[in-house]
Amino acid sequence: MPNKKTLLEKLGGPDAINQMSAEAKADALETLLQEELNRSLAPDARDAKRRLPTAAEVEAQIETRHHRLGVGNLFYAGKQHVRKLPPMPEKPTLADFFRLRFHKTAHHVLQSANLAQKNGMPEEVILACLLHDLSQELIHVEHGWWSAQMFEPYVSEKTTFAIRYHQALRFYADEAAGYHYPELYLELFGEDYKPEPYIEATYQMVRKHKWYSLPRLVTVNDLYSFEPGVVVNLEQFTDILGRNFKQPPEGLGFDNTPVAHIWRSLIWPDHPL
Ligand SMILES: [Fe+2]
Ligand SMILES: [Fe+2]
Repeated sequence: MPNKKTLLEKLGGPDAINQMSAEAKADALETLLQEELNRSLAPDARDAKRRLPTAAEVEAQIETRHHRLGVGNLFYAGKQHVRKLPPMPEKPTLADFFRLRFHKTAHHVLQSANLAQKNGMPEEVILACLLHDLSQELIHVEHGWWSAQMFEPYVSEKTTFAIRYHQALRFYADEAAGYHYPELYLELFGEDYKPEPYIEATYQMVRKHKWYSLPRLVTVNDLYSFEPGVVVNLEQFTDILGRNFKQPPEGLGFDNTPVAHIWRSLIWPDHPL
């Protein structure tokens, strides 16, 4: 994990950080860590010099940009041009999406699932870790909710629950579970920081829920899954996916579920209509 000073500087320093909402700061931090990880695994990548805009730049640029900051990875390439995407197979599987579409998020979620597996987590938690941030290829805002939704027809209710609520739980420590409030959040948000009311209400609901431990364990195995140079392959999870992921025979995007459009949007992000 990059050192704290570097991360704070890259987010724009204390004054700039103060201007961002807490959700935006946490999301910016997660994106920055993912970028750092991807860069460490592809040091010659052409985006080696990219960095996150600072908080002050974000504020100042809202009305000067042609996109919103929450736009997903596939739809925006910063100062680069987007590239032509390889075609997908006719009946694409989850593995095809990992290979051909989840370029920015794959390393991090694979590391997270690897950590969960090493820590002896139940399969539904390992699977949740493997899927928890993948909607960020489509959209960055509310990524816990979006990710849960896109996988809902294919995984157990427990896994969906774990994915959806990891976003809110990251703001709340649970020492007994092994989740310490991130030191960086103290610096980013201040000691007396209170999350948005909807996040607080979600936390209160989840805290009392019988499945609380599931999203909590995603946060435990999430935060530190940005280890430079560690490559984890999807094949490591073939058995777990076989037992816990209902791959539709028609292919993701063509199975007529209420989320098929999400998968088609990832297959054809350049379709105008
Ligand atoms: Fe996340
Ligand atoms: Fe994550």
